[in-house]
Amino acid sequence: MDIEKIISNLSLKEKIAQISQILYLNNHEEVVERLKKEPIGSLIMATDALSGNKELDAVSEEKMNELQEISMKYHGIPLLFGTDIIHGYDITYPVPLAMTAAFDPDAVKEAFKNIAEEGRKGGINWTFTPMLDVSRDPRWGRVIEGPGEDPYLGEKLAESVVKGVQGDGDKVYMAACAKHYVGYGRSEGGRDYHSTDISDYQLRNYYLRAFKSAVKSGCSTVMNSFNEISGMPTAASRYLLTDVLRGEFGFEGFVISDWGAIVQLIRQGIARDKKDCAELSINAGLDMDMCDNCFYDNLKELVSEGKVSMETIDEAVRRVLRVKNSMGLFEEPYIPTKSMDLESHKKLARELAADSIVLLKNENNALPLKPEDNIAVAGEFLEDKRNILGSWASLFELRNSVTILDGLKAVSDNIQVHEFGCEDTRLMFKDAVVLVLGEHYSITGESANLSSIELTEKQKEMIKIAKRMNKRVIGVLMFSRPRAMEDIIDKFDAVVYAWHGGSEMGNAVADVLFGKVSPSGKLPMTLPRVTGQVPIYYNAPPSGRDCNGYYGDKNYILNYFDCSGRPLYPFGYGLSYSEFEIKDIKVKEDEISLDDLRAGKKFKISAKVKNTGKTDSKFVTMCFIRDDLASMTRPLKELKAFDKSMYKSGEKKEVTFELGFDDLGFYRADSKYAVEPGTFKIYVGQDSYAEDYVQITVK
Ligand code: NOJ
Repeated sequence: MDIEKIISNLSLKEKIAQISQILYLNNHEEVVERLKKEPIGSLIMATDALSGNKELDAVSEEKMNELQEISMKYHGIPLLFGTDIIHGYDITYPVPLAMTAAFDPDAVKEAFKNIAEEGRKGGINWTFTPMLDVSRDPRWGRVIEGPGEDPYLGEKLAESVVKGVQGDGDKVYMAACAKHYVGYGRSEGGRDYHSTDISDYQLRNYYLRAFKSAVKSGCSTVMNSFNEISGMPTAASRYLLTDVLRGEFGFEGFVISDWGAIVQLIRQGIARDKKDCAELSINAGLDMDMCDNCFYDNLKELVSEGKVSMETIDEAVRRVLRVKNSMGLFEEPYIPTKSMDLESHKKLARELAADSIVLLKNENNALPLKPEDNIAVAGEFLEDKRNILGSWASLFELRNSVTILDGLKAVSDNIQVHEFGCEDTRLMFKDAVVLVLGEHYSITGESANLSSIELTEKQKEMIKIAKRMNKRVIGVLMFSRPRAMEDIIDKFDAVVYAWHGGSEMGNAVADVLFGKVSPSGKLPMTLPRVTGQVPIYYNAPPSGRDCNGYYGDKNYILNYFDCSGRPLYPFGYGLSYSEFEIKDIKVKEDEISLDDLRAGKKFKISAKVKNTGKTDSKFVTMCFIRDDLASMTRPLKELKAFDKSMYKSGEKKEVTFELGFDDLGFYRADSKYAVEPGTFKIYVGQDSYAEDYVQITVK
């Protein structure tokens, strides 16, 4: 497609329409009329800025195809139909934080391939995912949408989602959108939309990494975030949108604003009016305006006043058209007609949901249950088809939802439902009590923050009653953010952290509870003891007084008088029904020169991993590094690689990791990446408490 020719034939007004996104839902006729007049760049299937958390009506294929036809006929330019397909369309998968907990990037990629296939059938060709905001604050409702507290997991999620959504073919199958660029996960106090202040050191070594990975994976679009960095809102930051994203990362797609992220420059006090907003953001490198109408209403005047150049406008249009072209939309703008195999999508949703479940405790092998056990089930959302899907499931299909109760009953005839919170003496005669506790999806996601992440008094009371009535109490926790449970965890014999697991959650929970699947999920965020420990995270720098309570330093008392400095469960934690042993950690060559490393040579680390228990199970082996001496403080541990494999009972495997130049360095005070010569500890273990290591030297 000759993009330059198209641009040269567009009037300024038409160019501006091409870099504007307008709302489309329940207003078909109006959009038809408008489209006949101007080549709108994109339609967003939404009712308002928060509609990703609401129920939306799908638009008919005919109507969407009709709009494409009009756009092609009048302007020869196809439309982008964008929306938030975050973790499912016909079939909902676990929320992204839970998918991350599965530590299985291939399965996540496969899931997003399925999601994209379903979405394209629904007429969507652009989804606003992946959300890559690493965050150390579980009070922030949006942690459920992202990769959790670790930037390496962020990099992996970025790669899986982008490659899954966009496909491996020559053409981009569906455009992905890495959001929210950048630092949004730092919202102060976990309060959404609040200010952030991030040093360049933190920005580069922590917040930016996942975005760099998304760009490397070929992500077509990026969405800016609401927050500011060092006093500059991202919508107006030329440094972030142009110098870093394009200059350093080589991003070639286009940047869309988040809804309200341009116009809010007024409230943020750096723009007088919408005209200022348009000028600041387009000149910073923002290419498309999501529903703020700042571009649409003001760019013409700004160009005539010489405040925005025609080259800037042309470049934004070029970027948008390039993305459309990379998708083959000029040739084939319509909804694909190929049929789908939804059963295989359901199967993967079930496997992924089961693999994302984290077993926190299992005393006296309280789990797995046997189908012949007499089981009392009580709690919240047991028969709720909607809540298991979690937030950001706006285009859901309830008929595909398998509730917790349905899932359990499909395996056992001996399930009896008991009233929530009732001191029922019949509970005493059961083999076990399964308590399903959780949070409503509407208190997770955007604009859904909590000041306290402890369980509610009602939930605690329920747990205590269950424990009084029965000696085997199993908790199934349907929470999509870390919860603080120090005061109640002892009352459970076994606990599975099951998140909002998606359409197949009921089956997945049953698979785990009845032992069809041995749990293998791992915590992508630390579970604090109490809310007051937040932020608490594994990859902190060393303290100057040996007082990092996370790892039990000797002066941990300097953390708090009234609470341990340790988390309740550390990052990466998660049990299985089997036991594993990691031995013989070795490095093939323990010294490599910096030059060789730069030229691509790698340290090869290996370990022998054995399933020493009686149950076949998947197991995650993790590899962390610690830079012993550097010119700046470096984290006590940093995840750099992991392996998830299936082990039969008694099976032993050699697991290998390769670490090279990109793994051992960091961005220094001059904002440049460097590997500093010296020694590094390479830990191999099953979570961030890994203690066994080998030492390597970069000379
Ligand atoms: C606002 C949210 O912050 C963003 O994640 C979402 O993609 C847009 N609304 C569109 O719904």
